[in-house]
Amino acid sequence: MDAITTRKLTKKYKTKTAVDAIDLTVREGELFALLGVNGAGKTTTVRMLTCLSAPTSGEAEVCGSSVITAKEDVKRITGISPQDTSVAEKLTVRENLEFMAKIHGYGKNAVKERADKMIATFGLEEYESSRAHFPAAGSEN
Ligand SMILES: Nc1ncnc2c1ncn2[C@@H]1O[C@H](COP(=O)(O)OP(=O)(O)OP(=O)(O)O)[C@@H](O)[C@H]1O
Ligand SMILES: [Mg+2]
Repeated sequence: MDAITTRKLTKKYKTKTAVDAIDLTVREGELFALLGVNGAGKTTTVRMLTCLSAPTSGEAEVCGSSVITAKEDVKRITGISPQDTSVAEKLTVRENLEFMAKIHGYGKNAVKERADKMIATFGLEEYESSRAHFPAAGSEN
């Protein structure tokens, strides 16, 4: 099965055509890079493939599920790491991990277990109670 297929996938904002009838196929296990100049429509395409934005016309399927008629199935199997970080800077490292585990539907005990496991796996013990902000380049903290 193909991982991603699009057929004439299109997004229009009023008079602006952000994505113009693209057809593409990404096979399972394939690494696929979408390159283009600023404003080419890359983010808009990814937003449609992850069900964050509805196509104006055309169709796309992710692992056989339509981004139009089977959004829940697509969302269940999709992970996205956006250009800007989605870490909540006001929460601690542990709180971020627990927050994500809750979003993924884990129960109270499992949430703690998952966070413990991630902290151990990635060696975050020293930082788990610190806020998950990114220090500015060149700063000491
Ligand atoms: N919500 C919106 N309303 C109106 N126009 C939009 C909207 N989102 C994107 N556009 C326009 O659609 C076009 C494609 O934008 P998009 O952000 O998908 O491009 P991109 O390839 O991701 O660009 P960049 O390389 O700068 O990230 C641009 O002309 C942009 O201005
Ligand atoms: Mg973009």
